Amino acid sequence: MNIIFLGPPGAGKGTQAVRVCEALKIPQISTGDILRAAIREGTETGLKAKSYMDAGQLVPDEILVDIVRDRLAQSDCANGYILDGFPRTVPQAEALEGIARIDVVLELQVEDEKIVSRLSGRRVCPACGGTYHVSLLGGRTSCEKCGGELIQRKDDAPETVQNRLKVYHEQTQPLVDYYQGKGKLKAVDGDLGLDKVYAQIMEILGAHA
Ligand code: AP5
Ligand code: MG
Repeated sequence: MNIIFLGPPGAGKGTQAVRVCEALKIPQISTGDILRAAIREGTETGLKAKSYMDAGQLVPDEILVDIVRDRLAQSDCANGYILDGFPRTVPQAEALEGIARIDVVLELQVEDEKIVSRLSGRRVCPACGGTYHVSLLGGRTSCEKCGGELIQRKDDAPETVQNRLKVYHEQTQPLVDYYQGKGKLKAVDGDLGLDKVYAQIMEILGAHA
């Protein structure tokens, strides 16, 4: 199954995608993770993307479409995948039509007010991508999975989060109507505990399998 996770920053796309991908044995394709890796490696794409990401702006569509086209051509995508964070604009969604056949789009819904506290408390492992919230870490500062030292993402600073939310509402939310119009959209209440959100997603995917 080819799946899109749509939703505002901090909705839990990455958290849930990791779990669902493990269960379904398909890859998680997070364009944010791919761009952060490119920045760490100092590639040309990374150099172009960095200033946009630090400011909470979207990286230009053509860069993202090239990244996704290359990634979806890899053999591990043959049995399905989750696109986490792509598409994020209508032109990206239109470009995707020429690259892939999408089965279902899950929209993780969370109110803006909740998002600010989720993201200000997020800690991530740069080594393996593990994602945590300070409220659940009990003072631990290293990754449960690989032992890496946890950090705060630069774009999780409060003023950047506000900007990311604005960008989401202006540029990405129109995709809700776009996929609704194609009969592919399924809403998920993302404002519940991790297990309840996961259960909703698996139920929807089960119905599509
Ligand atoms: P990206 O990395 O995709 O960031 P994002 O969309 O802003 O999403 P996040 O990763 O912040 O949130 P998430 O939904 O994955 O939430 P998470 O599971 O971590 O993109 C970063 C940047 O890259 C963009 O701003 C842009 O510049 C660029 N970019 C990427 N893709 C692009 C594209 N297609 N086009 C153009 N530019 C692009 O959870 C968040 C926190 O909440 C965690 O602390 C977690 O523990 C906690 N949490 C999760 N679920 C729950 C729950 N149910 N209850 C309580 N807490 C929870
Ligand atoms: Mg994410």
